[in-house]
Amino acid sequence: MSERRGDVVVVEDEAALAQAVAGHVIRAAAEAIAVRGRFDLALAGGSTPKAAYALLASPERRDAVAWDRVRFFFGDERCVPPDDAQSNFRMAAESLLGPLGIADEAIFRMRGEDEPAAAARAYAGVLRAELEGGAGGAPVLDLVLLGMGPDGHTASLFPGSDPYLDDAQLVRAPFVAKFATYRLTVTPLVLRNAGAVVVAAAGAAKAAALAAALRPGADPAVYPVAVVKRNVGRLTWLVDRDAVTNLT
Ligand code: 6PG
Repeated sequence: MSERRGDVVVVEDEAALAQAVAGHVIRAAAEAIAVRGRFDLALAGGSTPKAAYALLASPERRDAVAWDRVRFFFGDERCVPPDDAQSNFRMAAESLLGPLGIADEAIFRMRGEDEPAAAARAYAGVLRAELEGGAGGAPVLDLVLLGMGPDGHTASLFPGSDPYLDDAQLVRAPFVAKFATYRLTVTPLVLRNAGAVVVAAAGAAKAAALAAALRPGADPAVYPVAVVKRNVGRLTWLVDRDAVTNLT
């Protein structure tokens, strides 16, 4: 599979990064809604997306998107109930979906409270049912927002195993040894078929993994975020200065 580095956009700091992510969502939503009348967005967990969600829901920006045309999906979830402090859904609900008054019918969450393997199968069914099939019949999201961990993980694709294992399943429930817990995550195939993917990363702790993942031929079993370089859609890395100190 051939890879592409995508665009690397460097901003000053974490606050500027949140603004850049929010701006990206606003533009992608406008484009998709103009073409198809609808925008299918996959949300990420983590601190960087959270700040962007708050901006999108703020009085200054909330009118920039036709939110009644947007449907919300998730790239990954922790295996906890939706009201748990660890839940990605809860974070999104509190920072974005609730403040914007998004209707329940437009929110497709991963059921972290269910048995992990069954929850993964169920969410794959949701993606298949709700999103039009792209290459190989895989569902197509307009935009997938992703974060990246200092270990190079993205969504809940963690280092140490082949991220392409059971790729066609669309969603899997890996056991994440470092947290001694299961997670739910989309597989690389879902990322590959998306219209656009944005990876947002801030801070010096991410610099080494970012540089390694961007290197041509980076091993996705070691730096899982590198899978996005095989995407067919538009790929943008939105990063702050501290995260690019190791970049050549
Ligand atoms: C999650 C994520 C995960 C996250 C990264 C970066 O549920 O934890 O989706 O992939 O995006 O760990 O998180 P930060 O932005 O908090 O560093």
